[in-house]
Amino acid sequence: MPVAEDLVAPARERVLNPLTDGLGRSARAHEHRLLSAARPALPVLNWLGMFARPLLRVPQLGWITADPLTARTVLNDPDHFTLLSEGGVGHLWAQILGDWVYDLFDGPGHYDLRTRSRELFTEKTSSGFVQKAWAPRLAEAKAVLDAGGELDLADLSRVLVGQMVVTLLGMPSSGTDAAYREIFATGESLASIALGTTADTVLPPHKVEAARTIVTQLTGHIGEAFATAPSDTIIGRCRDLGLTLQETQGLSTLLMVAGTETAASAMARAAALLYDTGEQHRLLEHPEWRESAVREALRVTSPAPIIGRSVLADLEIGGRTLRAGERIIVLTWTANNLAGEYRVDREYIPQNRQLWFGAGRHLCLGGPLARAELSSIIELLLGDGRPFRVVSRRYGRRVLIPAYESLVVTKAG
Ligand code: HEM
Repeated sequence: MPVAEDLVAPARERVLNPLTDGLGRSARAHEHRLLSAARPALPVLNWLGMFARPLLRVPQLGWITADPLTARTVLNDPDHFTLLSEGGVGHLWAQILGDWVYDLFDGPGHYDLRTRSRELFTEKTSSGFVQKAWAPRLAEAKAVLDAGGELDLADLSRVLVGQMVVTLLGMPSSGTDAAYREIFATGESLASIALGTTADTVLPPHKVEAARTIVTQLTGHIGEAFATAPSDTIIGRCRDLGLTLQETQGLSTLLMVAGTETAASAMARAAALLYDTGEQHRLLEHPEWRESAVREALRVTSPAPIIGRSVLADLEIGGRTLRAGERIIVLTWTANNLAGEYRVDREYIPQNRQLWFGAGRHLCLGGPLARAELSSIIELLLGDGRPFRVVSRRYGRRVLIPAYESLVVTKAG
């Protein structure tokens, strides 16, 4: 429970509860159930976030914040916060991949890697990747909808994301939906190793072993492909940018983990939001709002709902003293949803910027790719100028990234 003194919310604007005031009624209910099904603690944490503006200390968990400015202060301050010590995702990876992670994920090597990989996902290369990896599969899906059939968009998202991984990493694959589903599931099981680590990031030996086996499965081919991979794959591009084999393998693992479940979650949830809020009709009348519809879907779904860091050195923020060794969780979902309900024409919110992608030196590397992917799903659903309908849905249970297990849509009726 929160420390009593921490519950005194700053006297500012009326406290907006994203769980009850934010989205349209039906959209809100579905998002709430989706978060609960994924991790029952999430809605509680999000609710506590209402009092974490700027900061709240929660026993056994550490500090939490749902204030966008405080969140960015934390994420932009590598002198006082790290993701490498216990409590951060880098600490998890170091146990699995080895100590070199400390340099590459947050040390001087990270800056160098980010500088050199800046050009990997631009708006242009990203729409190229989507076209190359997805065009035939999206055309098949469109044919199903055109014929009045039903499409499970959650399943399709997993297939497409698996196919994107194969394309980006130049992995050997039989090219079937089943093979792509398997790639997705492999990435998912790697990420699920982080499940249950909200309060503790020390992995037991059997989890380390399992994760290492998966990493070898996913990146084992890179050693052989590195010298000859074409420049339009990520492996070839990394090589051309001067990354070493080890850096390329590390980055590939990161892409798998950071860019699969998050993207698939956003794709089906964006469709559900468009339907549940009725905003699809406004978007059909104004197709020029596509870009803000995508940005809004990312904001309202915030598929990475929390970001963890450890405090490296004592500091003061928002009148509170944070001590070295403490932990802090940035509640991105709450911070982003406090800004209001899903509106396809909502303008860019300067205060939030793109907090759904994090901020600072670890700002999502794949943002342009995620946007291109979402845009192609909206094109699939609304490109013919007609609305769609959600026929049925099922929420994913006990998953790291809240997502639909199934979301069946149709154009019929
Ligand atoms: C809707 C989809 C996505 C969301 C919401 C998302 C969110 C995030 C967030 C919040 C972070 C920062 C984590 C932190 O600071 O600890 C991050 C980092 C990262 N993301 Fe994404 N991501 C998405 C898609 C992707 C895609 C498609 C890729 C690439 C294929 C990708 C690659 C990465 C990488 C490599 C990092 C680590 C960057 C670093 O540590 O320097 N992400 N992402």
